Amino acid sequence: MLVRCFLSIALTLTGGGFWWAPAAAAPTQVAQYRQGMVVSAHPLASDVGLAILSAGGNAVDAAVATALAISVVEPFSAGIGGGGFLLLRQEDTGEVRALDFRERAPQKATRDMYLDENGEVIPRASLDGHLAAAVPGTVAGLSEVHRHYGNLPWHQLVEPAITLAEEGFLVKNRFLQFAGRRQEIFRQNAAARAVFTKNGEMYQVGDGYADLPVRLRQPDLAATLRQIAANPQNFYTGDIADKIVRDMAENGGFITREDLQNYQPIWRQPLCGNLEAQRHQDFSSQPALEPAVPRQFRICSMPPPSSGGVHIWQILNIIIPQIASLQWQSADAIHLMAEAMKIAYSDRSQYLGDPDFITIPVLKLISAPYANFRRQQIDMNRARPASEVQPVNAETLERLVQESNDTSHLNVVDSQGNAVSLTFTVNGGFGAGVVAAGTGILLNNEMDDFAPAPGIPNLFGLVGSDANAIYPGKTPLSSMTPTIVTKNTGEERLFMVAGSPGGSTIITTVLQIFLNVAIYNMDAYAALAAPRIHHQWLPDSLYVEPGSLSPQTKAELQRRGHQIVDRDSFSNPNLIIVKDDGTLEAAADPRGEGEPRGF
Ligand code: GLY
Repeated sequence: MLVRCFLSIALTLTGGGFWWAPAAAAPTQVAQYRQGMVVSAHPLASDVGLAILSAGGNAVDAAVATALAISVVEPFSAGIGGGGFLLLRQEDTGEVRALDFRERAPQKATRDMYLDENGEVIPRASLDGHLAAAVPGTVAGLSEVHRHYGNLPWHQLVEPAITLAEEGFLVKNRFLQFAGRRQEIFRQNAAARAVFTKNGEMYQVGDGYADLPVRLRQPDLAATLRQIAANPQNFYTGDIADKIVRDMAENGGFITREDLQNYQPIWRQPLCGNLEAQRHQDFSSQPALEPAVPRQFRICSMPPPSSGGVHIWQILNIIIPQIASLQWQSADAIHLMAEAMKIAYSDRSQYLGDPDFITIPVLKLISAPYANFRRQQIDMNRARPASEVQPVNAETLERLVQESNDTSHLNVVDSQGNAVSLTFTVNGGFGAGVVAAGTGILLNNEMDDFAPAPGIPNLFGLVGSDANAIYPGKTPLSSMTPTIVTKNTGEERLFMVAGSPGGSTIITTVLQIFLNVAIYNMDAYAALAAPRIHHQWLPDSLYVEPGSLSPQTKAELQRRGHQIVDRDSFSNPNLIIVKDDGTLEAAADPRGEGEPRGF
């Protein structure tokens, strides 16, 4: 059932005037069902997830099949040539488990592999081509979680992706726009050229049949998926591995047969904690709120090698005593969040990396005393400049805006109440821009998530230190933040399953979705459609969506010292909320093309 009503947040009074008009015209698109729900970044992938749930699959089955379908229909964001993280909550035990199937650095990787003889970073060396690729983990991860928790046979979960690759699907403008940005690298790689261009020219809408969009068929990928359906290990030790290794050797890539053979997904302890939070009581456009009793949440998110869980907790700890008293999207609320974000991202650059290689003071970073200490540094009247390291240059800033079409997130809740929150990626839009010959597999450029040299920004403008330096077998630091929240109302109940793509903006996106639902009482669609802000310490910019702030709020934030930068919509989250009566409510970000499905 698709529920259509008009967004009540649309007429929120902010800073003395009615603002954030864009949402006013759009009907909300929350879907509500009772039995099961899938929401992903592409309607065809959500269809696959629903079909699997309807065929008796559980949340893990549906998540696996949806992720494989995303690999076919959204190759610009995530795929079997990349990696990811998954959070799983089992309703019968309440246990939450976290699976790390992120890419790992090949054994031949070295700390300085992207530096020239003068120690300067070679432009785009960690972004384009075979040398940018780390050892992919998606197939191993999906197979691992299915082996432990799946219900339906593995091959049944791969079939829909095979069909999509073989029969093709209609690509829309969004896909073609993203592809257009990588056309230069596609033309240099014969296999990518064959898949994503028409004899070297980019497809245009109308190249298909008359004015219909382009139908993209991927026969090599279909054949690869067939081999994966027969045995997922084929990716790591079989014919697929042979092809990847040959292609690497011919094109200067580092991935060897041993790297593939040795790849292992890793079960990690999720970062879970309890949070007491009150709803905002002055949210004038909302219907009557429940009494102002603090509510108990348990938030579980991804631990290192993701930075997501650590910094969601760090920011929440800093802002939670104050945020519920502040008007949504007011200068005070935005200022408080931005100052806390700056603190978290500065710590990220110093302390976060692969926990198997470095010691990360996770518990200290997310502790209450540390949050209290940091909170006292926030001056509500003045934005503190991030002056310790050099600001990001204009070129990186440009890339930040252009290349955020990375990563994909999906959520599933099944009829038993089991939940999966899965984020996976090939890193930048269309990953390394190269396809392993004969496989149809688009390779990731996840090596760029390492810090190529201290203080040098990556694709997302993030800087790092030794903690995230390149080392063979090491996992690059991530921001992916698959998150599952339960609510304690006498018993622990599933409350929210959420996540997002968006590189460095993933953490702040998931944070704001949680606040919108838990503090500001929004429904799933409103929580996603609402404008977002982002600050990552460096560059010292407060990113806002154009037109989302009233002139008064903007002026007040500038008066406090914020460098406000308009940025077109970033990230593309989706969300499932379990309402108090057990109804499942889901939505996908209207900035993207995702849709929920349920029954
Ligand atoms: N590749 C983006 C991330 O993992 O944060």
